[in-house]
Amino acid sequence: MIPVNRPLLGAEEKEAVLKVLDSGILTNKEGKGPMVSEFEKKFAAYVKVKHAIAMNSGTAALHAALLALDLKHDEEVIIPSFTFIATASMILHVGAKPVFVDIDPDIYTISPHEVKKVLTSKTKAIIPVHLYGHPADLDPLKEFAADQNLVIIEDACQAHGATYKRQQVGSIGDLACFSFYPSKNMTTGEGGMLTTNDDEIAEKIRMIINHGEKGAYQTVRLGHNFRMPEISAAIGSVQIDKLPQFLARRRKNVQQLSTLIGQNPYIQLPIVKDWATHSWYLFTIRIPQNPGNLSRDAFIEKMRAAGIGTAVYYKPPLHLIPYFKKLFNFQGGEFPETEKATREVVSLPVHPGVTDEEITYIGKKVNEILK
Ligand SMILES: Cc1ncc(COP(=O)(O)O)c(C=O)c1O
Repeated sequence: MIPVNRPLLGAEEKEAVLKVLDSGILTNKEGKGPMVSEFEKKFAAYVKVKHAIAMNSGTAALHAALLALDLKHDEEVIIPSFTFIATASMILHVGAKPVFVDIDPDIYTISPHEVKKVLTSKTKAIIPVHLYGHPADLDPLKEFAADQNLVIIEDACQAHGATYKRQQVGSIGDLACFSFYPSKNMTTGEGGMLTTNDDEIAEKIRMIINHGEKGAYQTVRLGHNFRMPEISAAIGSVQIDKLPQFLARRRKNVQQLSTLIGQNPYIQLPIVKDWATHSWYLFTIRIPQNPGNLSRDAFIEKMRAAGIGTAVYYKPPLHLIPYFKKLFNFQGGEFPETEKATREVVSLPVHPGVTDEEITYIGKKVNEILK
């Protein structure tokens, strides 16, 4: 089976991990982990930000970012419904309220127009999600946030290496969160990174991920243990060096596959805005539902039988998963573009481990199945 995504690890990562084991230094507690420091420096240089702070997951990075805002009970954070659960659940974990909105159907990211409609006196932040690796349209959001005194947290968990108007995602909002889960464009096993240009926020975050300590056993605010282990950082430090080549290979696979299936009338290729560089974490096509067409789910089944993995991100969207549906009494129909996307999208493998021959095979099978 050709999976939609898989981690690519080599001799360099193995060697880096063994070095950590030999060193006996396994943690960055009190800032004494050389690999975490090295990885943070490299990541900050790549994203072009002042601060990159490593953590043990993207979820932890979102949680820490929200804690740093010191939100009061029931203050509101606007997010798209079309995202991974952590974007929303971390808002509830800090006692605030996620306010869902619909997406721009071209690029599946939060609609700036919809954001404006849900503003209240309790709104404090917006979390645009760079879904599939395509950046959200940040300028209108930044303008609105500046007018209304809101914070922007970029959820860049899927978008390492994507750019918005030639700027790396993760360097544009007030804070940004990345994930290094094994399926991502680069991995540390489990892991995350928070980036910011704000010194004060960075200082708060460093405390939050380390039990709120200002010095050893000097807790000044509530915190967690969100620290990234040294072994993970050693893997990350190698992977960030490989990221440009991973991205180039994803781009090549996307170009090849788009050429092969671009003329197929039963699918819509992903759209890339002229202001964006897509990081191609997911190559997501649409199979519009028309009478007489093969259904998206039947397509997936036939692809599986041909040995090709596919994935649907996300079905259901957040407002219709049991927890949020019940909590906020959603009925369905609230966010039509999100719900339509949920029925139509399917992602195909383009990760850097997919060979030219496999891309040719995938293209051939897509065209055979959808005709
Ligand atoms: C959009 C989005 N947000 C948050 C996360 C959470 O990251 P992690 O799985 O590293 O906790 C992910 C990763 O799956 C994600 O895709």
